[in-house]
Amino acid sequence: MSFNWGLIADNLPLLLQGALVTVEITAMSVGCGFFIGLLVAIANLSKFTVVRLLAKCYVDIIRGTPLLVQIFLIYFALPMITGQRIDPFIAAVTACSINSGAYVSEIFRAGIQSIDKGQMEAGRSLGLTWGQTMRYIIMPQAFKAIIPPLGNEFIAMLKDSSLVSVIGFEELTRRGQLIIAKTYASFEIWGTVAVIYLIMTVTISQLVGYLERKYSIK
Ligand code: ARG
Repeated sequence: MSFNWGLIADNLPLLLQGALVTVEITAMSVGCGFFIGLLVAIANLSKFTVVRLLAKCYVDIIRGTPLLVQIFLIYFALPMITGQRIDPFIAAVTACSINSGAYVSEIFRAGIQSIDKGQMEAGRSLGLTWGQTMRYIIMPQAFKAIIPPLGNEFIAMLKDSSLVSVIGFEELTRRGQLIIAKTYASFEIWGTVAVIYLIMTVTISQLVGYLERKYSIK
């Protein structure tokens, strides 16, 4: 078998466009996931049992079912109830955001719980409210602690976003499939797709390493 470099060169622009779409879905999903996660983590600390229970159910259900099934549910099952087709991009970002939110909320919870309880007590005894102590004392420290796991989540989501190829959304993996359907060059194209994912994930871990050093707790 000869390795066809020309074929890779010909299809590289198409794959790179796909890679850009992959980065877009990932950034949007982890971005929305960040806010969902923050809300859910705060709900988890609530003094109201119902709120805590709802937050726990969300995390358990989303973490306990495969992302692939969640994508199918949103893209194929939801329109059967609403009667409206969903754009694959919206379905992809929605599924990935809801999924990421569950993981990020656990990251936040761990980060908040890693800060000594005495700091909340100190803040409160200085006359700050719960919210102020959270915002000005706990969160800035928790945030530093969660940079590495958040980076992990970003890398995981970047790779797991390949699952949205099943609804025909043209990100990197789907682009690879489509090119192979025309050229039959499995080896060259899947190899290139893998290398592109690797370059993206290594870049992210470098970036996270930089942020970690910059904001490390000394
Ligand atoms: N592969 C796992 C699943 O199917 C996790 C997917 C999402 N990953 C993430 N880091 N949010 O459920």
